[in-house]
Amino acid sequence: MEKKVQGREVLGGLLFLVVVFVFVEIGEAQSKSFFINCGTNSSLNADGRKWVGDLAPNTNLTLSSPAIQASTSTLSGESAFDSLYKTARFFTDGLNYTFQGIDQGSYVVRLHFCPFPWDQFNVNESKFDIAANGLKLVSEFNVHGEIEFRNVFLQSSGGNSSSFSLIKEYILPVKLNGLIIEFAPVKGSFGFINAMEIIPVVDTLFEDSVAKVGGNAVTLNLGGRGIESMYRLNVGGDEISASEDSGLWRTWEVDTSYMITANAGSEIHNSSNITYASVNDSTVAPLLVYETARIMSNNEVLEKRFNMSWKFEVHPDFDYLVRLHFCELVYERAKERTFRIYINNRTAADNFDVFSEAGGKNKAYHQDFVDTVSSKFDTLWIQLGPDASASSAVTDAILSGLEVFKLSRNGNLAYVERYKPAGNSSKKSKSFILWVGIGAGVASVVLVASIVAFVLCFCKNRRNKSSDTKANTSVWRPLFLHGSIQNSTANAKGSRQSLYGSVASTRVGKRFTLSEIRAATNNFDETLVIGVGGFGKVYKGETDDGTPAAIKRANPQSEQGLSEFETEIEMLSKLRHRHLVSMIGFCDEQNEMILVYEYMANGTLRSHLFGSDLPPLSWKQRLEACIGAARGLHYLHTGAERGIIHRDVKTTNILLDENFVAKMADFGLSKTGPALDHTHVSTAVKGSFGYLDPEYFRRQQLTEKSDVYSFGVVLFEVVCARAVINPTLPKDQINLAEWAMKWQRQRSLETIIDQRLHGSYSPESLKKFGEIAEKCLADEGKTRPTMGEVLWHLEYVLQLHEAWMRSYTSDNSFSSSQALQTDEREAEERQEGETSYKEKSTSRGISDPDSTDEFELS
Ligand SMILES: *[C@@H]1O[C@H](CO)[C@@H](O)[C@H](O)[C@H]1NC(C)=O
Ligand SMILES: *[C@@H]1O[C@H](CO)[C@@H](O)[C@H](O)[C@H]1NC(C)=O
Ligand SMILES: *[C@@H]1O[C@H](CO)[C@@H](O)[C@H](O)[C@H]1NC(C)=O
Ligand SMILES: *[C@@H]1O[C@H](CO)[C@@H](O)[C@H](O)[C@H]1NC(C)=O
Ligand SMILES: *[C@@H]1O[C@H](CO)[C@@H](O)[C@H](O)[C@H]1NC(C)=O
Ligand SMILES: *[C@@H]1O[C@H](CO)[C@@H](O)[C@H](O)[C@H]1NC(C)=O
Ligand SMILES: *[C@@H]1O[C@H](CO)[C@@H](O)[C@H](O)[C@H]1NC(C)=O
Ligand SMILES: *[C@@H]1O[C@H](CO)[C@@H](O)[C@H](O)[C@H]1NC(C)=O
Ligand SMILES: *[C@@H]1O[C@H](CO)[C@@H](O)[C@H](O)[C@H]1NC(C)=O
Ligand SMILES: *[C@@H]1O[C@H](CO)[C@@H](O)[C@H](O)[C@H]1NC(C)=O
Repeated sequence: MEKKVQGREVLGGLLFLVVVFVFVEIGEAQSKSFFINCGTNSSLNADGRKWVGDLAPNTNLTLSSPAIQASTSTLSGESAFDSLYKTARFFTDGLNYTFQGIDQGSYVVRLHFCPFPWDQFNVNESKFDIAANGLKLVSEFNVHGEIEFRNVFLQSSGGNSSSFSLIKEYILPVKLNGLIIEFAPVKGSFGFINAMEIIPVVDTLFEDSVAKVGGNAVTLNLGGRGIESMYRLNVGGDEISASEDSGLWRTWEVDTSYMITANAGSEIHNSSNITYASVNDSTVAPLLVYETARIMSNNEVLEKRFNMSWKFEVHPDFDYLVRLHFCELVYERAKERTFRIYINNRTAADNFDVFSEAGGKNKAYHQDFVDTVSSKFDTLWIQLGPDASASSAVTDAILSGLEVFKLSRNGNLAYVERYKPAGNSSKKSKSFILWVGIGAGVASVVLVASIVAFVLCFCKNRRNKSSDTKANTSVWRPLFLHGSIQNSTANAKGSRQSLYGSVASTRVGKRFTLSEIRAATNNFDETLVIGVGGFGKVYKGETDDGTPAAIKRANPQSEQGLSEFETEIEMLSKLRHRHLVSMIGFCDEQNEMILVYEYMANGTLRSHLFGSDLPPLSWKQRLEACIGAARGLHYLHTGAERGIIHRDVKTTNILLDENFVAKMADFGLSKTGPALDHTHVSTAVKGSFGYLDPEYFRRQQLTEKSDVYSFGVVLFEVVCARAVINPTLPKDQINLAEWAMKWQRQRSLETIIDQRLHGSYSPESLKKFGEIAEKCLADEGKTRPTMGEVLWHLEYVLQLHEAWMRSYTSDNSFSSSQALQTDEREAEERQEGETSYKEKSTSRGISDPDSTDEFELS
């Protein structure tokens, strides 16, 4: 079988010899490894290895000075190395570890750090340099800072674990004179080290000639250069611990924390009969790595138009060697699975076919690439995606393992990481804002460049449905036909626990005959048309018992209509909620597609914000409308077994009933959310321009967070009372999301608030409101709040505003019609009173939902 591996003729006998040779190599390598327990003269066993004290006699290790021996009896108990980490060597002056009697060749050097308090040292503030045989490994190294940085990253990507220790790994060439590891504290500071490993590696671990992304093969001279192992992942599988990789004691992490959209691909595994594609590869990675993989396929997606993407924090201005491990576990032939590999957004390999490259199925194979990360970047993206040009039957990618190595430059591997003294929060929020900025920037470029094309295209796709550049043309008012609303309201209100229970899967609403519909609409009398949308016309009708209803009749020529019609029936029939517009029934006689809705007397939220003569809503009414809509969306996202994504959240789809209760409407684009084991639904981008989640736009991966983004735009629209896209405005103002975020970032949203609200809102509540909207517009879906969180915060905003109102008037009851006038009349009196308000609101015991998280109310 090995013959096939390389597609070459290999004599069985020779093969046997090579195998034995490799085996002997490993065996020998084992005996020449050093496992050092620092800060003690005693040895111990940990993680299946014997660790020799750095002061133990009879080793080939010498220390330039004994420095300070530290030990602790209490440790977190987190790792296999716990007993090892209980001692450390601290130093306040230079300290050299010199290893003699080791052969020339390459070595893995691992340095273990586990900070624990010792003597008068504040262990969080260590700062030191390390060099090995003159190669700088780290500079001004702060162990605590790096651990925290990593923990913040892991938690921000959904993990809940945190680490108390750190291992740095290097691969270094060692010449005849042995290996000297030099530790030197920054002047006035100190350093420490808990343990060290020195393990010889076979020279075939890296080849010298490697493909450079966007160029020819380059000679790396790895024999004369140092390497830092930055990341090592077992893609699609569980962590592989050091003791399971016995040759080199490497740890292979789970990859999900590094994926842009975890589970963008699904995991597969098969452990039968995997062998190395090349006999020299046995030390490259353990076979366990190849038994699991991640593939792109997603059952719900016909068009697989997305990438599997991993993102890594790296140091700018270095070259990186990216090693990808592959093993075809499924297909029996070449050309069944071909894909493209991108590194830092550039094509690294095209038409990549693992089966052909590896020489068959179940062959463990790896491919290296080199790329430079310029001084402007601190991330490395690795993406696998479909090959548009490929002729293969399946556009699917596969990846089993991934390693990222940093290559030394001019004898240097060190990069000085500047950790903020207050920990991570400032760093994190800076990058958060940066992301939003980039997102908004991208959005605006796309917008300005292609607004006309897009609008045209969009209109074509959606048959002009609710075009946002035209004011109010798409208003339709769903009405309510008969008694089922009582049931449904009771149902939704009835109990919190029925949040899940009220989803009736069988209720389809009443099926009306066409003659009933004709009777209700006076035979589709044009004077009864209350709205025109892409779908068709909406009529105000009346059922035989005199109840008003909104009757939406599809344009018979509408091609797209049928699927949206069916979606809407399916969605609405499953959903009953006080803040979702109810469907009463439908009619599908004679190829008609007609939907009958509950009547919403006050029309769209948008018509009450701008572009009409309707009296403006007060701040309180606006807040209540937002809360209503948020409740509806929260129910959509969480109420069904698989949440429902609305996909078209905008102010024309938020309708107000006669009491100004807001309800979400128009489910024509809704999608059932991802199944439990997926985090998103991939789909062609649909939605309304100006509200579109840029992440969804980029990746075509739909999550509930896309609705959260759109809702954030709604929040800004409610404050500013202007169209989300207004091409007649100066360039920087065209896109509301971008413009409002600009002011919000400067904490001066009040500058662009609807003039008619001036003086009649609690500044505190506006501030908070702006913060919520800002969070909703985070560029990355995973950093946006859930609708539940948004709802909670909005309720708090309303409380703030109501408390502020109460503190200036004895009259608590603002009827909706007088609210605004009352607000205005009292505006001046309130202006000065802001300071005293704060005391009042706190004494009323309003609890800030944010007091425990990262927003601040200061
Ligand atoms: C080294 O080991 C000896 C016993 O072999 C012990 O008496 C001594 O205290 C140890 N020294 C240090 C510095 O730990
Ligand atoms: C450590 O080794 C380097 C290189 O051999 C030498 O220059 C330096 O003085 C040594 N430091 C100490 C503290 O011995
Ligand atoms: C120390 O190095 C010598 C060769 O210089 C070697 O023979 C010996 O085995 C080494 N000792 C240990 C404990 O590794
Ligand atoms: C060091 O940092 C940890 C975690 O951030 C903290 O719990 C601890 O109190 C800090 N120790 C000192 C001495 O500042
Ligand atoms: C972390 O989350 C996993 C599942 O999400 C859970 O099983 C585990 O107990 C959590 N660990 C901690 C420390 O909360
Ligand atoms: C695993 O691979 C073997 C050999 O290729 C195949 O026969 C078997 O069906 C696979 N098992 C699964 C669960 O896919
Ligand atoms: C694995 O390989 C052995 C020996 O070559 C063979 O007998 C066995 O059928 C193979 N198993 C699978 C699942 O292919
Ligand atoms: C394996 O490595 C040896 C030594 O570096 C080399 O001579 C040999 O050609 C390699 N074999 C293959 C199949 O690459
Ligand atoms: C690659 O694209 C991502 C987003 O699409 C961006 O954040 C990153 O900076 C890009 N990297 C490079 C090197 O251009
Ligand atoms: C995959 O990523 C590359 C590089 O960032 C990008 O150019 C390409 O458009 C992406 N493909 C898809 C389908 O998103």
